[in-house]
Amino acid sequence: MKVLVYGSGGRDHCLADKYADSQHVDKVYFAPGNPGILQTPKGHEERRLIELVHLKDFGEAADFCVERGVDLVDVGSENPLEEGLIDVLNDRGIRTIGPRKDYVKIESDRAFTDDLLRRIGVPKPEYQVFDDPEKAKTYVRNIGYQVVVKANGLAAGKGAIVCDEVPDAIAAIDKVMIEAVFGESGNRVVVEERKYGTELSFFAYLDGEHVLPLKMFAQDYKPAFDPDDRASIEQFGGNLNTGGTGCYCPHKLVSPWLINRIIKEIVNPTVNEIYNNLGWPYKGVLYFGLNLDPYDNLDVFEINVRHGDPEWEVLARKLSTDLFEMGMAVWEGSLDQIKQVWNNQHYVDVIAMEGRSKASRGWNKGYPGRYGKGHKIIGLDEIERGIAIYFAGVDENPQKGLVTYGGRVLHVVAGDPTLKGAREKAYRNIKKLVFLDHNNNGANCLRFRHTIGL
Ligand code: GLY
Repeated sequence: MKVLVYGSGGRDHCLADKYADSQHVDKVYFAPGNPGILQTPKGHEERRLIELVHLKDFGEAADFCVERGVDLVDVGSENPLEEGLIDVLNDRGIRTIGPRKDYVKIESDRAFTDDLLRRIGVPKPEYQVFDDPEKAKTYVRNIGYQVVVKANGLAAGKGAIVCDEVPDAIAAIDKVMIEAVFGESGNRVVVEERKYGTELSFFAYLDGEHVLPLKMFAQDYKPAFDPDDRASIEQFGGNLNTGGTGCYCPHKLVSPWLINRIIKEIVNPTVNEIYNNLGWPYKGVLYFGLNLDPYDNLDVFEINVRHGDPEWEVLARKLSTDLFEMGMAVWEGSLDQIKQVWNNQHYVDVIAMEGRSKASRGWNKGYPGRYGKGHKIIGLDEIERGIAIYFAGVDENPQKGLVTYGGRVLHVVAGDPTLKGAREKAYRNIKKLVFLDHNNNGANCLRFRHTIGL
């Protein structure tokens, strides 16, 4: 069987890797993919179990699938889904995992989803939607409690600004609506009550008829810095949200009773609404970003149409079920036949980010602020056996080889029978890596958080 994974980040690399592990699959195409894959055993030119392909548009992707006889396409991220890749492929009779364009609005239009959840009685924080910044500011001045200001549209998982005081909320509204830091996604904002508690990321596969909730969940670490890194937090003007700095699973809250509650209170009513009232034969993944507060109340923060990144990178390691069998069941409407199996390991993913580096003039602060690129990545051959490296923001340089290209550069994922052991392995290995700052005498400009999994 042949699979095409469409995407280029760490989650997509991990999807390609997991499909390559399937007993049914002898080739995974990865488009546009990233050149990091060439450094891995499965992507190395001697083996080419995973192969990079360059497809200039969705039409070419469909032609490629037909010509090569691709059996299944998995679209890992929200942007090609919103641009309608699934529709183009399905119109050509190609099997896919991922929602059609019209169904992506459950992620790309927060106001739509918040209203849907309110209508069906699924718990979520209090919220109001605004198109006018002045009205949003009047609202936050009047309500008194703390809020989160969210861009209504897609923002690569970064569109939520958590506010302490009213001036922070006013500044956040200005940032999103006036300075447009998230582009047009911030023309409309959702101002939501700030919740305290523990966040968890819960996933379900849908096949248009059945739902397969994953009975395992993970925790993402979105703030850029460790809580005690006061100097960085001050320098960046707050502990900014990132697309995720690391992750672990099983989440400390995993228990059969909480999983049952999540399925009963949140997943089932939402899926029922999608299938039976909206009439969407949704085939793909739903991601429920949840909070459990100190009084044991669950709330939905967001729903996404794809796996979380980095949550998938740890869940995929823990999942023993054949991903190709799950994927085909999504397409064929037979998810009720799938048995999910989880191994007994704990997993920790620590993300290597671009840190402070020297620019041609001055300094780059590093991710999630402005970051440098083109730093040679060294130490990959020192990584111990059994550690997974998933590449994200990397590029190939003719002289230097693999170099950094994005803010989140790569994931170091370790598994162990204990969480402590998984943490130790992940940290021991990430410390073997160096991003060589060529403008600063080869200093290491790799940065990572130290508290993942604590
Ligand atoms: N980890 C958060 C996200 O994927 O949006």
